Amino acid sequence: MANSSGPTRERWGTRIGLILAAAGNAIGIGNLLRFPSQAAQNGGGAFMIPYIVSLLLFGLPMMWVAWTVGRMGGRWGHGTTPGIFDRLAGGRPWAKYLGVIGVALPMVFVLYYAYIEAWCLGYSWFSFRGAYSDPSVDLRTFYNEFLGNATTSNYFSGVGVALLFMLITLALNVWILYRGIQGGIELLAKIAIPLLMVFCLVLGVRVLTLGQIKGTVADGLNFLWTPHLDRLLDFNVWMAAAGQIFFTLSIGFGSLECYGSYLKEDDDIALTGLTTASLNEFVEVIFGSMIAIPAAAVYYGAGQVEAIAKSGGYAIGMVSMPEILRGIGGVEVFGSMWFLLLFFAAFTSSVAVAQPVMSFLQDEARLSRAASAAVLGLLWLLGSVPVVFFYRYGSLDEMDFWSGTIGLVVFAIFEVVLFAWVFGIDRGWQEMNRGAQIRIPVVFRFIIRWVTPAALVAIFAGWFFPATMNGSLIASPKLYWGVIDAGSIGGRVTEHLPERGSLEEARLKKIEERFARAVTKAGRDLRAWANVTLNPAAPPAVDSVGGDPELLAEFGRRDLQEWLAARGLRFEPEEGSPSRSVALSLAIEGRYRETAIWMTRIVMLGFLFGFGVMVWAIWLRRSAGEDRA
Ligand code: PHE
Repeated sequence: MANSSGPTRERWGTRIGLILAAAGNAIGIGNLLRFPSQAAQNGGGAFMIPYIVSLLLFGLPMMWVAWTVGRMGGRWGHGTTPGIFDRLAGGRPWAKYLGVIGVALPMVFVLYYAYIEAWCLGYSWFSFRGAYSDPSVDLRTFYNEFLGNATTSNYFSGVGVALLFMLITLALNVWILYRGIQGGIELLAKIAIPLLMVFCLVLGVRVLTLGQIKGTVADGLNFLWTPHLDRLLDFNVWMAAAGQIFFTLSIGFGSLECYGSYLKEDDDIALTGLTTASLNEFVEVIFGSMIAIPAAAVYYGAGQVEAIAKSGGYAIGMVSMPEILRGIGGVEVFGSMWFLLLFFAAFTSSVAVAQPVMSFLQDEARLSRAASAAVLGLLWLLGSVPVVFFYRYGSLDEMDFWSGTIGLVVFAIFEVVLFAWVFGIDRGWQEMNRGAQIRIPVVFRFIIRWVTPAALVAIFAGWFFPATMNGSLIASPKLYWGVIDAGSIGGRVTEHLPERGSLEEARLKKIEERFARAVTKAGRDLRAWANVTLNPAAPPAVDSVGGDPELLAEFGRRDLQEWLAARGLRFEPEEGSPSRSVALSLAIEGRYRETAIWMTRIVMLGFLFGFGVMVWAIWLRRSAGEDRA
């Protein structure tokens, strides 16, 4: 099994190129969108305590382990964990199969990560063209329709445009990967990372000099950084902080290991790991909190920031930010810049996520770089089908759950146990410090051996059980409504959902269950429309309905009215106009999700199984070759 493909394997070209590529790997959507919204939702300043604890107990340790494991892998001719784990475990036959996760997981992760990247590219184009500069464009509807996630088609009909940007993004990624480590990834990082820093600075300065609209920048910073110490006892806050550390540092994906495999024999791991983490944390904590949240506080007022943060990690970037940038003027410039910033951050990350697949095909399947890129491109294209076309059924969230929440912790547990216990902490520690100019404090030796594995197991339990216990793995139908002709009603319709755990919420759930039962019974999506009057003082009145008879048989006009009332539908007239009642038409949809979710799961399992079979076949052929020799 000694395949020291030494001279033929690629290497990082320059020290600065390596650092920028490593920073490009870690710095991504996680830093600029996910971090501020997570921090804001989980206790503001208090979030930083579990965040820093996570960084020290497993963030930095796993960062160093990954680079160490990767550098060893490169020496052995392996850039991915099937080969690396095999060697780490001294050829024990099961280890390479655990390593399969380190190829299948990034393959699945990149499918939806690149889709988000494609949205950013699309939105920078829309910003540049002024596609949403008219204030009557409702950006939430715009976003949902862009992704085919709406019941209406005011701005987009179908996912065609999103698909186009996905194809462009995919082609750009495959092209960079085809160009290789130095000519592709390193070159991209040398251009994208400095550009990203400049964009961050310009946008940061723009936001910080906004003055007062409905609030001030200081309100936003206060909101983000006021420590709500009572939240420290909340288990969920700790789990959220742990998740953020994983995501932002790119830990547990097999991606850092792969980058590590292109190091030279005695490149400095201690320093590379520390620099990667520091640059990432700098961008995350400084720029991540300087742009989106303060901008929202200025534009909407401090009272609104929490609701915005809670409306979802991507909504801040894709709905609130374009609205704010449009409101403060110059959206063609600053909007384009904001989305290009996100795009470049994501681009240097998505190539990093996909590189393990490239490396697997080159190192293990012995394909040329061009052939590997072609195979990767094909897999990527096929795998994108559920992401793009089943987005409306929740396929992206499903992938995020299995790869971005569960898969990466499982992988990290295997990795750290293999490293510290099977390979052995003595040899591991020595390897980690070999060639290093800085000394990793010895306490980390203890942490890697005892604390990190224990912390990871606790995180796994904390995520897996709550998520799977309450029946949420069942793909039950979901219900949606949207306003037909949204641009012409002179305002927008908002929802005011009942408090979590309240009686009203329980009632709403009951109503929705009835709706969902009709959809399940039909076994397909059911649609309806309703003419509705929204009155400032009274609950919504449904004047007439029509649609699928299967739906209306179980869920008639009265039920619909109750449902809209329970969701707290209200009409908000445009800025400055007095409140009034309005008559409008709603499109309503109950989505049957089971088929789409199972197909998404089959695609994910297919990658796991497919790469597993490849590993089996490759190792079989290798051992046959050795017998003959
Ligand atoms: N760290 C990246 C981000 O913050 C995401 C990523 C995960 C990149 C895994 C590479 C590997 O967005």
